[in-house]
Amino acid sequence: MFIRLQFLILNEMEKMKAVVCIKYGPPEVLQLKEVNKPTPKDNEVLIKIHATAVTASDIFIRGSQIPLRFLIPMRLLIGLTKPRKSIIGLVLSGEIESAGKRIKRFNAGDQVYGLTGFGLGAYAQYKCMKETDSNYGCLAKKPQNISHEEATVAAYGGLLAFQYMERGNIRPGQKVLVYGASGTSGTIAIQYAKYLGAEVTGVCSNSNLELVKSLGADHVFDYTNENTLDPEIQFDFILDAAGKAKTSELKVACKKALSPGGKYVSIDDGALLLDSKRLEFIKELVEAGHIIPLVDKCFGLPDIAEAHRYVGKGHKKGGVAIKVQ
Ligand SMILES: NC(=O)c1ccc[n+]([C@@H]2O[C@H](COP(=O)([O-])OP(=O)(O)OC[C@H]3O[C@@H](n4cnc5c(N)ncnc54)[C@H](OP(=O)(O)O)[C@@H]3O)[C@@H](O)[C@H]2O)c1
Repeated sequence: MFIRLQFLILNEMEKMKAVVCIKYGPPEVLQLKEVNKPTPKDNEVLIKIHATAVTASDIFIRGSQIPLRFLIPMRLLIGLTKPRKSIIGLVLSGEIESAGKRIKRFNAGDQVYGLTGFGLGAYAQYKCMKETDSNYGCLAKKPQNISHEEATVAAYGGLLAFQYMERGNIRPGQKVLVYGASGTSGTIAIQYAKYLGAEVTGVCSNSNLELVKSLGADHVFDYTNENTLDPEIQFDFILDAAGKAKTSELKVACKKALSPGGKYVSIDDGALLLDSKRLEFIKELVEAGHIIPLVDKCFGLPDIAEAHRYVGKGHKKGGVAIKVQ
């Protein structure tokens, strides 16, 4: 009787809160539920998640706005009629609660941040992850000088911005343009380009011009009011941080303003790499004050549908975080 009671109590303790996506659709498909807390295997860490994020990718995965060309490949990967992993969520920041006996890089108590890849599962209080990089995630120690909410922006925006900016091999004095400068990746791309010593131009809407300047941009253009660029202006590197689906007459003009030998890269050119070495580099630059991740709004886990509605409008400034616990 005593053993049975003990088992029941233990079983009760093994629950956690998570947001479950029961089918593809609008934000209302997300439901807060109580589910079993995962148990780490020998080669896994158990992360107590403090913050997750609602990113462009989460909106995409939830499924209401997948462009037709991505629909079939995406559904084959993440589930045909509903997400194969019912707990979605791509970004996390938290603390290692326990580490399996084959774990070498982390110890209980370490503060970590990263992406969960096809494993998803970040919309929950706990998540098990391997310490090695794969399509199922990458993990590194979190920058010590920022909150868990800010760390989610550094992880997602940083991995995106750094990966695509690196293709430019940017050198001091070069002219760099970031199109979509006020979003999660754009705000970090502006700061990274400044860190690399470039002369930086940001393109965003009118309401974000001051914000983008405050991040270090030397020049800003408003794509909602300006259609052309001075024909004298040329850029050595252009990053389209807004993605191919978002365009304007000014974007067309920017593409034409490449210097001979210049490079134009879209953030949609190829898959996002889950790279813990890059996370470690982002940590260094954040701790040195070169990159300040920007949180637009922070919601609680029960309000995640509201956060999806907000992000779905496509005009967040920096990132949107979810405080988990
Ligand atoms: N390669 C990959 O594997 C991969 C993975 C994830 C995401 N992505 C891509 O990365 C993109 C960016 O993600 P993110 O989270 O950094 O973006 P985001 O935070 O959603 O921000 C996009 C920014 O774009 C701006 N914007 C909206 N419409 C625009 C337009 N027509 N012209 C110029 N700017 C416009 C908005 O600024 P204003 O409010 O100032 O208009 C917004 O702040 C995604 O949309 C996706 O295409 C690629």
